[in-house]
Amino acid sequence: MQCEVFSPKQWKRRMTASGTNTLVQPLGEMPPEEIVFGRTEAMRAVRDRLNKLAGANVPVLIQGESGTGKDIIARMIHAASPWRSGPWVKVNCPAIPGTLLESELFGYEKGAFTGAYGVKPGRVEMAHRGTLFLDEISELDLALQSKLLQLLQDGQFCRIGAQEDKKVEVRVVCATNRKLEQEVENGTFRSDLFYRINVVNLHLPPLRERAVDIPGLAAYFLEYHNRKYNCRAKPLSNEIMTVLSKYHWPGNIRELENLVKRYVILGTEDVISSDLAPRSPDFFNTEIPVDGQISLKKLTRQAVRELERKVILKVLQHHHWNRKQAARTLSISYRALLYKIRDAGLPSNRSSKRPDNENPKHDVAAD
Ligand SMILES: Nc1ncnc2c1ncn2[C@@H]1O[C@H](COP(=O)(O)OP(=O)(O)OP(=O)(O)O)[C@@H](O)[C@H]1O
Ligand SMILES: [Mg+2]
Repeated sequence: MQCEVFSPKQWKRRMTASGTNTLVQPLGEMPPEEIVFGRTEAMRAVRDRLNKLAGANVPVLIQGESGTGKDIIARMIHAASPWRSGPWVKVNCPAIPGTLLESELFGYEKGAFTGAYGVKPGRVEMAHRGTLFLDEISELDLALQSKLLQLLQDGQFCRIGAQEDKKVEVRVVCATNRKLEQEVENGTFRSDLFYRINVVNLHLPPLRERAVDIPGLAAYFLEYHNRKYNCRAKPLSNEIMTVLSKYHWPGNIRELENLVKRYVILGTEDVISSDLAPRSPDFFNTEIPVDGQISLKKLTRQAVRELERKVILKVLQHHHWNRKQAARTLSISYRALLYKIRDAGLPSNRSSKRPDNENPKHDVAAD
């Protein structure tokens, strides 16, 4: 079944219309769809799947590195589903200590354990006719995994201390940034539960595989945080955009957003270049595909380039971006330095004070 996916305005209207009392947690503000999905093939596939699955009550597993947008996608699934006016209940599994997680999820009856003075419904019950989002599902211990399996198999669960099972209708969406297949192999995650929650799988690509979307995301975050903090930061320069598109983004979209936020608040692009410099990829820790074909030449060339980039950036920063002085310190010609700056995708940083004695005609780094 094909489902509607709403624009942010439509979402807001729907969410407001549904009344806050029906939402256990508010869905919160969402970026526009074109920003969330961008222009890559991988995200187009995610969007197509989301549209198809939103209308069917099947469990969904969202996988992806930290900061790739699993939370946003889970909320989009809820917002596009027939249960969108029902509750949205998110459980951040690692945030709740293991001993409390069972009572938090499944609730308890009066007298179920010392301190259980009354009846407490769990979040599974609260999510009746809505969406239960289990974030970091790999954190559930094996006992809780089997209770969840029962819920997914027949929609039934048992409050702690209860004599009878209860029935709920709930759409379960799970997310993880771990490789659950590996956890299954290790015996820490039940394989039957894995197959149950993995009826439909959405895999979110890391930001380094979505470099084409970086300008759009950066512009969106710039506008958003300018508005939020009442600032007037200018659009990022082309040089900085080149740096951003070459960075490897271990923290993915969250890292990009934080970076743009810092730029908006502090108002200088220097924060971006100096922020990214120490976190460039460390090739000595790069995963080497030992079971495949390795090009020693290629790896060594990459490592040398990366080292060169780091050294140049450090020296440029030390000399407040005076490239003539930097070239002298590095014992290379001024022209060679300009080429290297361009090749490394470093900003020429025109915005910082340009020494008068530099000749802009030779400014290849700013091409
Ligand atoms: N596709 C996207 N478009 C716009 N903003 C995004 C997108 N994906 C993530 N973000 C932003 O990045 C931040 C992190 O996103 P989110 O919390 O959804 O990531 P996550 O995959 O759930 O991370 P974690 O595994 O750490 O929980 C949020 O502030 C979110 O607004
Ligand atoms: Mg998350």
